[in-house]
Amino acid sequence: MSSVLNADTIKGKINKNIYGHFSEHLGRCIYEGIWVGEDSPIPNTNGIRNDVVEALKQIRVPVLRWPGGCFADEYHWKDGIGPRENRKRMINTHWGGVVENNHFGTHEFMELCAQIGCEPYINGNVGSGTVQEMSEWVEYLTFGGVSPMAELREENGREQPWSVTYFGVGNENWGCGGNMRPEYYADLYRQYQTYVRNYGDNRIHRIACGPNSDDYNWMDVLMREAARYMDSITLHYYTVPGTWGNKGPATGFSREEWFTTLEKALFMDELITKHSTIMDKYDPDQRIGLIVDEWGTWYDVEPGTNPGFLYQQNSLRDALVAGLTLNIFHKHCNRVRMANIAQTINVLQAVILTEGEKIALTPTYHVFDMYKVHQDAELLDLNLESGTYSAFGRAIPEVTGTASRDAEGKIHISLCNLNDESASTVTIDLRGISAASLTVTGTTLTSEELDAHNTFEQPDRIAPKPFDAFKTDGTHLVVELPSKSVTVLELV
Ligand code: AHR
Repeated sequence: MSSVLNADTIKGKINKNIYGHFSEHLGRCIYEGIWVGEDSPIPNTNGIRNDVVEALKQIRVPVLRWPGGCFADEYHWKDGIGPRENRKRMINTHWGGVVENNHFGTHEFMELCAQIGCEPYINGNVGSGTVQEMSEWVEYLTFGGVSPMAELREENGREQPWSVTYFGVGNENWGCGGNMRPEYYADLYRQYQTYVRNYGDNRIHRIACGPNSDDYNWMDVLMREAARYMDSITLHYYTVPGTWGNKGPATGFSREEWFTTLEKALFMDELITKHSTIMDKYDPDQRIGLIVDEWGTWYDVEPGTNPGFLYQQNSLRDALVAGLTLNIFHKHCNRVRMANIAQTINVLQAVILTEGEKIALTPTYHVFDMYKVHQDAELLDLNLESGTYSAFGRAIPEVTGTASRDAEGKIHISLCNLNDESASTVTIDLRGISAASLTVTGTTLTSEELDAHNTFEQPDRIAPKPFDAFKTDGTHLVVELPSKSVTVLELV
């Protein structure tokens, strides 16, 4: 079977924001994972952990969504400004019933984004907030003149407005964000977004709450009723190997759970294809972006941890989910302009785990690191022919892959071999590449064990390694992908 890379055919641009993240006031994501406070013995800058910021800078996080999630539709931003000792203590009713002291608020979030060097994506409250509250948040953040909110910001130590592009009008309003019908939310969206103003040079990219998974009716109604008022619409899809009541463990799972997890993760392709078809009906010029602002694996929590904290380990299986999902986003890059993995630290498919001062980078982190070469690169035409991976009476593609060319002209090919038992040989016919001086290098992430993972005691048990199991004569590239692996090749 031969695959073809047409390196002179550009299919689109991979928006770097596809590599975005999501951090909610949930479990130990914000508190402990990011915010430790200025007096903490854990090394920090203005209360934010240095080790975490360094790790996030390394993978070039382009955009960070906050404060939720379900928390966003219970969040009242004025509770999180002003002297910290005076901030309201409240119950985080949605996530574990713990006390939220509001020490991490607007200023702290904007400081975090500045330290990482990423763009903020702020999610406003429609479910339990008011139009005025949302409108004033935008004024507080972005207005540079004389106004009550600009003065309040100045009183709190920040004279200059911030620049904020991405603003979400509600989260999961079909569920935790108010259990609304799409017709009702579409009207509320139209109303709320009217008062999300552009001040000065700041231009807000307005984001409507889109569907849960395969709720195609929600997408149709929102596009029909509100397309002209939005710049993007969201999609949420989680990979749950079992059922919501019994999702399955993050480690120590069976071969069949491996297969099912990857099979369910691949469903993202069908979802995006079908939602894009609906969007095309109302927006044939593709002005509106699809933002997959919550995706990732969702397992049973680690034994002995708070069920409301959604803390799970992260293994080689998650690396494959990340690799194949990012390949799907690349393929759909003309519509998918942003995605935000859930969630950055200590929650769901985290890229970083922390415990006190200890830190571990997960296999998912390593995939984001390996794949960062695709950020803002041109998507190239790669027709991948691989066998099928058949097990348990079902079949999925054995290998998924995409290719891109970066600003320096380097080509990167990311390949995931989903098969847990067999290596896979991929032969790529290289077209549109000058073969004379082709140099190929590679990196791979794999392990003997399906659930290989990093712990605080063994933080480097699974990490990327140099890869050279390929041959090229300049016109063909023959790659021998190890079983259960994520590989990135660079062609210069
Ligand atoms: O990421 C965890 C939760 O999943 C989010 O708060 C919510 O939006 C989704 O249901």
